[in-house]
Parts: sequence; C-alpha cells; structure tokens
Amino acid sequence: MISDTAEPLSLALPKGRLMEDVGKFFKQKGLDFSFDNRKLVSYDKSGNLKIFLVKNSDLPTYVNHGIAGLGICGSDVLYESGYKFFNLMTFDFGGTSMCIAGMKGAKRTANERKLSVATKFTKFTSDYFHKQGIPVEIVKLNGSVELAPVLGLTPYIVDLVETGNTLKANNLEILEKLEDIKVHLVVNPAYYKLHYKSIKRIVSILKAKT
Ligand code: PRP
Repeated sequence: MISDTAEPLSLALPKGRLMEDVGKFFKQKGLDFSFDNRKLVSYDKSGNLKIFLVKNSDLPTYVNHGIAGLGICGSDVLYESGYKFFNLMTFDFGGTSMCIAGMKGAKRTANERKLSVATKFTKFTSDYFHKQGIPVEIVKLNGSVELAPVLGLTPYIVDLVETGNTLKANNLEILEKLEDIKVHLVVNPAYYKLHYKSIKRIVSILKAKT
C-alpha cells in the first residue's frame, strides 16, 4: 500500500480524449486501471488509487472540494476554474495551444473597435485581451465553437488547437497562438498536507524513467 492511511489516494481523471493518454502513461508506470462499462469509479490494480472519471470542466470542482485529492487536468480548464492547487507534475502528453482563429482569408478591418469572440474559455479570453488593453465582446459556447464564424455568430473564436484538423475542415485559420496548454497533476493543498508521504511516493513512481 502506498497510502499513509491504508486508504487509497483519490484521483479524478477527465473523460474524453486525454483519458487514453493518461491510461497508457499510468500503465507504463505499473499503475494499471480500467473502467467497466459506464462505471465512473475504479481502482488501480494495486489498490493504491481510487479513480473517478469526471467531465473535464468539472474536475477542478471535485479537487477543490477535496472529493478527489488529486486530479489530472489541462491548464486551460484549471485557469478557467479560478481555483488554486499545487502543481505536482507536468506531463509531456496532451499539450495543445490556445489560439484565436477566424475564417480563412477573411479581411481584418484595422478599425474593429471590439473583438467579437466565441469561446468556451471566457475567463481566459477576457483576461488575455484586457491585459493588453484590447476590448473584447465574448459569446459563451459549450462546444463546436468552430461553427461560430462559419454561421456568422462572431468573426473570431478562441479555442484549443491540437492537430488543426477541426479548423481546416471548417475553412478556418489561426490568427495568433495565445498560449501553450499543458496537462498537470494537481493536488488539493489540504489533502497534500494530510497525505504528503503517499503522494510523494506516487509522484516518484510517475516520474521514474521506464
Ligand atoms: C477540441 C477543441 C477543438 C478541437 C481541436 O474540441 O475545442 O474543437 O478539439 O482539435 P484539433 O485541432 O485536433 O482538431 P473537443 O473535441 O474537445 O470537442 P468540443 O467541440 O465539444 O469542445
């Protein structure tokens, strides 16, 4: 048992495309787990980790409440949540870029007084442009953000770009990369104090060369 208290450490993982990379990475480190059909709670095979499968954008809420002590999440979602956690580790996989994009070849008018942007990342977008003194009008969407310029909701989007395939398929192009997004292992600060030793052990397993 890695845990100090004989209780497994609790870890929230995000549903979706990141999950596959996380599963492979943990398996390489000997922390093997799987989820039975539609189940959202599982244990790694050694019983050291109790793992919750949560919606990506809800993950910081679970960690903030200490329901999951640990969480693996992108810096985009962490920033958006506004919560502050300790960062234990930054992973090499799952990196993306936060970009502003618009229709390919569309004329940019130099006298646009306000940027009109559709995005899931309203806090990031607002903070980013306001820090530069650029007024921005934000339309909040929850997905398929690339549709906004195509249908004329807003000329611009701020969204994650990984392969660039979604932009390309919808005749959009990047105007500017705004920030690199990385995936982190974070911990609730109070949980860290309580389970310091066992968390250190898990982190050293995850950081060990394989
Ligand atoms: C994300 C992101 C882009 C897409 C970028 O969406 O918001 O839409 O992936 O990836 P690409 O550059 O590899 O094409 P996600 O798949 O999470 O779905 P969503 O539209 O529901 O947000």
